[in-house]
Formats: sequence, structure tokens, C-alpha cells
Amino acid sequence: MRRSPVGSALILGLLLSFSAPFGRATHAETAEVSPSLQKLMRQMLGDVQQLNRAMLSDDDEAAAAAAERIADHPLVEPGQRATIARALGREMVDFKRHDTTVHDAAVALSVALRAGDRTTVAVRYGELVGGCLACHDRFRDRVREALGLE
Ligand code: HEC
Repeated sequence: MRRSPVGSALILGLLLSFSAPFGRATHAETAEVSPSLQKLMRQMLGDVQQLNRAMLSDDDEAAAAAAERIADHPLVEPGQRATIARALGREMVDFKRHDTTVHDAAVALSVALRAGDRTTVAVRYGELVGGCLACHDRFRDRVREALGLE
């Protein structure tokens, strides 16, 4: 397929901007921490399970620590990131937006936990888990297929 220069520039821009989770400097990107998407997701599940346990046991310190691990999750390895960007095309921005939602909710949750702000804790906790589900509903099947996970 031939692309117009504008289309190519757009796609290149998306690929370049796809440098974090998918896209932010907050994510660690070093050689030793660059897991596959599946490994990252299983790690996030473990962190959410620990978060749930701590939240429901009123252990704010452990809950804040779990929320911070979710916020600072490592970047997916570059090859898979490129494959996901190719598969999603322009929708990559939406994929990244879901990751940002989870990230921002996790940061705000840890801050609220440390400040003892119960109302904000409840709202942000819901946003965090809702962010996981929203991305799965929209993208999980397509990304699994693109990565050959089925
Ligand atoms: C930006 C999109 C996105 C967000 C946000 C997201 N996920 Fe995922 N997740 C995916 C995709 C795509 C897959 C499919 C790949 C796979 O199954 O490994 C997946 C798969 C999973 C899986 C299945 C892994 C397996 O064994 O195959 C788990 C568990 C999971 N995610 C947990 C979470 C949790 C917990 C959160 C929130 C803290 C979360 N995800 C947030 C995109 C996302």
C-alpha cells in the first residue's frame, strides 16, 4: 500500500511518540526492565491483587506502594510496541490514552492514600480498575492477535 507523505509523517510521528508504556518519561526504559506485554500485564495483575488486598484491609501504606508500582510500570519491549502501533494505526493514541488514565489514577490514588483523603481514594481506585477494563474491552483481542498470542 502506498501512503501519502502526510500519512507517512503521521505514522512516523505516532511511532516516535510511542516511546512510553506505552509513552511517558515516567516509565522505566532500561535493558533489564523491558518485558513482553503479557509479562507486564501479569505483573500488573499481581500489583492490582496486592492493591485490592491492602485497600480492603485498610493498609494504606501497602496500598500506596502497590499503586506506585502500577504507575511506574516498565515499558513494553520495543519490538512489541512497534507491532502494536502498526496494528492499531491511528487508534494508537487511544491505546496510549487508556494507559495514561491508569497511570494518572494510580498516581492520584497513592497521593490520596498518603494524605488520608478517603473520598478521593474511592474515586481514583474505581478509575484505576475501570481503566484496565476499558482498554481490555476495546483493544485486547486485536492486540493479542497482532502479537500472535492466540
Ligand atoms: C493500554 C491498554 C491496557 C491497559 C491500560 C491495561 N491492559 Fe491489560 N492487557 C492489554 C492487552 C492488549 C492485553 C492482551 C495481551 C495479553 O493477553 O497478554 C492485556 C492482557 C491482560 C491480562 C492477561 C495476560 C495474559 O495472561 O495473557 C491481564 C491479567 C491484564 N491485562 C491485567 C491488566 C491490569 C490489572 C490492568 C490495570 C492495572 C491492565 N491490564 C491495563 C491492554 C491493557
